Amino acid sequence: MTVADTNQHYDLDPEVFGQFLDPLRKYSSALYATPDESLADAQVNKLRFVAECLRLRGGERLLDIGCGWGALILFMAREYRCETLGVSPAPRQHDYIARRAQELGVADLVRTRVGHFERLDLAPRGMDAVSMLGSIVHMPDLDEVFRRTRAVLRKGGMLYVSESCFRNAAAHAAFDARVGTDFVRNDIFGWGDMRPLSELVAGAERAGFSITAVEDLTDHYRRTIEDWLRNVAAAEERLEAHEPGLTAKLTHYLEVANAGWGYTTKHYALVCRNAR
Ligand SMILES: C[S@@+](CC[C@H](N)C(=O)[O-])C[C@H]1O[C@@H](n2cnc3c(N)ncnc32)[C@H](O)[C@@H]1O
Repeated sequence: MTVADTNQHYDLDPEVFGQFLDPLRKYSSALYATPDESLADAQVNKLRFVAECLRLRGGERLLDIGCGWGALILFMAREYRCETLGVSPAPRQHDYIARRAQELGVADLVRTRVGHFERLDLAPRGMDAVSMLGSIVHMPDLDEVFRRTRAVLRKGGMLYVSESCFRNAAAHAAFDARVGTDFVRNDIFGWGDMRPLSELVAGAERAGFSITAVEDLTDHYRRTIEDWLRNVAAAEERLEAHEPGLTAKLTHYLEVANAGWGYTTKHYALVCRNAR
């Protein structure tokens, strides 16, 4: 395994993701305020929830590790006038974000860097807040990630992580080698490891973070993926035009992901403070 392999899924044409994600192209769990809320509204709720967790009031310096197609940094730049930096190893995501930042008039507040967070040199203590939504799963060395994250945060700065996790260490051991897990890890992403929440908490604690909140978002991710699956089915013709067989591949991946919620897998938000 090399960490560069994690690019293969995210370097698909950004228009593929435009076919089944919400208009902001946020590729992580939404937060549904009501039973019939739309995916688009639920993704905006989620971004406001993240802003609350990070205690954003306006103008903060914010690093988003694993920035995808820029949903979070573009939103925080527009709504909170944050000075944002997005990091991701997938070059096509950066071209897309640069174009959107221009269109939205926030190019002065949105910067990105291509690369793996674990290998980038960033100024120490230069950030007020750091977010990681669905990206730590692609990073093999948790201690290195939390150590570097804390190093870029000012004293009192906040870290928000949301991630899919195995329900406990026993589920991790039992399901890690199953065909479905292997398909998602190797055929879709290249590399990924869903740890139990306890490993994320222990990693954050070892790096010196103070844990301030843990929230269970499992049901919200199940609903998010149900919405994505409906969108994939509706976009079949356009997805097949991109790549024959893509509809079936995406459907299989999303169904595998949704099959385990609550039993083998969970989705959590973890909030930490660089207290000292
Ligand atoms: C599931 S996507 C989530 C994207 C975004 N956070 C969102 O919510 O829309 C995971 C992101 O992590 C990025 N990623 C994977 N490995 C990474 C690494 N080592 N350092 C930084 N980003 C990484 C991928 O390129 C992708 O943009």
